[in-house]
Amino acid sequence: MFRQSFKYYKSKDPPPTLEEVLNIDKPKLLLNDGIITKLQINKSSPQYGLRSSEDWEVYEINSHNGLIFIKNPFTPNGQRYWITRCLKDYSKKPHKLNIDSTNILKTDKDWWDEGQINKKILDSLRWATFGYHHNWDTKIYSEENQCPFPTDIKNMTKYVAEQLGFNGFTAEAAIVNYYHLDSTLSGHTDHSEQNLEAPLFSFSFGQSAIFLIGGKTIDEKPSAMYIHSGDIVIMSKDSRQCYHAVPKIIKTNCEPWNDECELKSSDLSVDKNIHWEPFNNYLSYSRININVRQVLNRGQIKL
Ligand code: OGA
Ligand code: MN
Repeated sequence: MFRQSFKYYKSKDPPPTLEEVLNIDKPKLLLNDGIITKLQINKSSPQYGLRSSEDWEVYEINSHNGLIFIKNPFTPNGQRYWITRCLKDYSKKPHKLNIDSTNILKTDKDWWDEGQINKKILDSLRWATFGYHHNWDTKIYSEENQCPFPTDIKNMTKYVAEQLGFNGFTAEAAIVNYYHLDSTLSGHTDHSEQNLEAPLFSFSFGQSAIFLIGGKTIDEKPSAMYIHSGDIVIMSKDSRQCYHAVPKIIKTNCEPWNDECELKSSDLSVDKNIHWEPFNNYLSYSRININVRQVLNRGQIKL
């Protein structure tokens, strides 16, 4: 059933009907129909590029226990901050990149800088990993295969976790996925972490996606939902171990990263000397997803 839905939404000819895709951007009907429930969040002041949490719209998807969705809580400046971090910084050594095993990037050169000169390089990046590196072949994390986890994204994730009552969450591994308009991510569960109770945090920026989430086996029919720029998806409780996938990237006509907004002193902002246009060009055909995991159990200090 999962594979069938994946194929259906991935198909170019014929293209899928998107009528059944949940759009939490328009929550009214979904709330009325009992498909989602609004969760109450305590007040806290804006930080990490996020709006004050009293302005967040947090929903649980009723058919998937523990699947939480925060509708874009980032300010436009906040989105730009995290986007530039993903493109300029998280894509650098000592982080691991899918292109490390090719010779496309000469040693000591940064992907983003070289990509400005050579579009082929720019379009070749698919993922970066840091913290405990995800091993794509063995799917096993190891003490030997890790690098420091950037403190900004670690702290931002911890903060979001605490707002939702997940106290004690520690970000220990992350994958940044770089998608283009024809990219997909096939159905999988994330089960390499020793701690399968700690939720998964997924932050998305740029173009929209169709996200499929099913059950613990591939026999269950998944639900399809849109993920737009700035949205945060949290897979906790039962949904933590459920099959999920991204069968389709959808070009958006809503670009919150370009919205005008006044820069407040509490807001994160990108360096004024940064020329935004190259980032904007990249985003016009790309989606960035930061997928953050806790690997160790509470009190465990190493693998
Ligand atoms: C992953 C993942 C989902 C997404 O990286 O494991 O499930 O929305 N990503 O890109
Ligand atoms: Mn996943």
